[in-house]
Amino acid sequence: MPVGSGSTSAVVLAAGEGKRLKSDLPKVLHRVAGRSLLEHVLAALDSLRLSQRVLVVSKRRDEIAAAVTGEARFVVQDPPRGTGDAVRVALEALPDTGAVLVLPGDTPLIESATLARLLTLRESTGAAVALVTAHVHDARGYGRVVRGSGDEVERIVEERDATEVERQIDEINGSVYAFDIEPLREVIGALAPDNDQGELYLTDAVALLRERGHKVVALRTRGDEVAGVNSRGQLAQVAALLRARAAERWMDEGVTIVDPSTTFIDPGVRIGRDAVIHPFTFLEGDTSIGERAEVGPQTRVVDSSIGDGATVTFAVVRGSSIGQEASVGPFASLRPGTRMARGARLGTFVEAKNTSLGEDSKANHLSYLGDAEIGSGVNIGAGTITCNWDGKEKHRTVIEDDAYISSDTMLVAPIRIGKGGATGAGSVVRDDVPDGALAVGVPARIIEGGGDRLEKDDKADADGGG
Ligand code: UD1
Ligand code: CA
Repeated sequence: MPVGSGSTSAVVLAAGEGKRLKSDLPKVLHRVAGRSLLEHVLAALDSLRLSQRVLVVSKRRDEIAAAVTGEARFVVQDPPRGTGDAVRVALEALPDTGAVLVLPGDTPLIESATLARLLTLRESTGAAVALVTAHVHDARGYGRVVRGSGDEVERIVEERDATEVERQIDEINGSVYAFDIEPLREVIGALAPDNDQGELYLTDAVALLRERGHKVVALRTRGDEVAGVNSRGQLAQVAALLRARAAERWMDEGVTIVDPSTTFIDPGVRIGRDAVIHPFTFLEGDTSIGERAEVGPQTRVVDSSIGDGATVTFAVVRGSSIGQEASVGPFASLRPGTRMARGARLGTFVEAKNTSLGEDSKANHLSYLGDAEIGSGVNIGAGTITCNWDGKEKHRTVIEDDAYISSDTMLVAPIRIGKGGATGAGSVVRDDVPDGALAVGVPARIIEGGGDRLEKDDKADADGGG
């Protein structure tokens, strides 16, 4: 986005301790909607043309740096003595002239378009600072914007320093600013800790700039966008706002979301037209959902792809790919490496891992399929298990096209069932089954006289009754 002349830097303030969260984790690393607060803010910077990104961090620099991808310069503010002090530290890493966008690391809903408009507004008005404000229903905890008789912004007052009358103001400071660096440098040294917290407030720069004859302008935006996270309650509130925003975006793209309030869609997810997402569904990480697919209710999909027209219900799907028109669930667990071709089916109480299932192959009930390569048109009967672990190592099971595995077969890997091969119900198969052959039975052990030792009732159990 071409914004103005000269260079524009961005400074993200992320050194605050986040005391109100009562957490061992730095505040900006708390996650909402699939990303840390900081990553949400950085994502909003992505489409802006910036000469550099500077992150002001606490002495826990390394933890925060590890969570940041892409180019960024880190400056350490230790101890954190307020937002004004944080900017003072950041200025040491900035050029002498140009513009700087300053934003907090705890407002994850801020949008790129707003930041671009803010930079343009400052540039076009020649103001020393342009700041983002919003009218909100509940201004509690935020700095209030005090306007003069001509509606110009005079100063910002923090709630704890505000008079009763000032607290009635419903226009809040979003803590997002575009500054001209030169006048900012002039006033930053003049900030004084004469407030309730004894900190250096960046908000005081506004009044200082005006006193020195500089122009201050404001950009009003929606309250949602500048919602900040200072507490666990606000963490949940912004999570709900981000959830609603994601759902809205996908509904605009032609996706049916039955209940947006219980549908969690991470930012990296892709969903095709006419897909239907049922309630209590989580779409996470690098996930794609095909056109007309039905997902949920009660389904979690992580780093997986679901093909066009597929159905996945009451299931957990991780690191897997589900083909077109395939179906999963209810109550299935697909662990990483499960690959289902078109029309394949994994039904009730089936777990699969590192297993491929060819076209139209089915395991409808109660199976564990691990490390298996299953061809097309294969039927896997209820209760079938690939015994892939011999106590020391994992082994593969290969089942070729059109094989028929009867109920309750134990396939002791490594093993291969040839094309069109079959197994009998309850068989324990240890050797490869050639194409078209049938494997039956269990080499059961005979215990002489053992039957007499069973009471009548136990005998009924041994018969497999019940
Ligand atoms: C700040 C604003 C307030 C505004 C609100 C919007 C000030 C004094 N107040 O209040 O007017 O309405 O944001 O959300 O600026 N930080 C540092 N170093 C510090 C202190 C803070 O890097 O020494 C960082 C924090 O990590 C945070 C951001 O600056 O990301 C804002 O600090 P925070 O303490 O959350 O300020 P608020 O009280 O929310
Ligand atoms: Ca805050």
